[in-house]
Amino acid sequence: MLEVMKFAPVSIFVLLAPGIAFAQPLPGDAVAGKVLAMRSCAGCHAVAQEQNQPASDGVPAFLTLARDPAVSERHLRTHLQTPHARMPSVPLSRREIEDVISYILSMRLAN
Ligand code: HEC
Repeated sequence: MLEVMKFAPVSIFVLLAPGIAFAQPLPGDAVAGKVLAMRSCAGCHAVAQEQNQPASDGVPAFLTLARDPAVSERHLRTHLQTPHARMPSVPLSRREIEDVISYILSMRLAN
């Protein structure tokens, strides 16, 4: 519960952010995806637009991924479902994967 409270203002920001009237359906819940990203991914990735610098060198910011046309929904899903050399697997449920993909793609739509 405390965890949820901590990120509540962020979720509200996402909800109110202009441009989040999605032109295309997203596979999951982008707001839940942002909360998850702040919790599970922000240690290495810059996950939010407000963060300019990635937390670690050589780790792509989510906004950079969102702006890369080569990064499709399928690409993100594959990446999150298969182990990667330099990125340790973060255990995510199918639902969480869809949510975090939605969050990343929502940044593309908003920009
Ligand atoms: C311990 C550090 C670490 C954590 C935690 C982490 N990542 Fe990564 N991630 C990396 C590194 C390093 C790379 C670049 C190397 C690679 O692609 O394997 C990367 C690359 C990526 C890529 C790009 C793959 C590509 O090249 O197209 C995506 C998407 C991604 N991470 C998503 C996530 C998500 C979503 C989370 C949270 C659920 C997360 N990462 C958590 C370190 C991390």
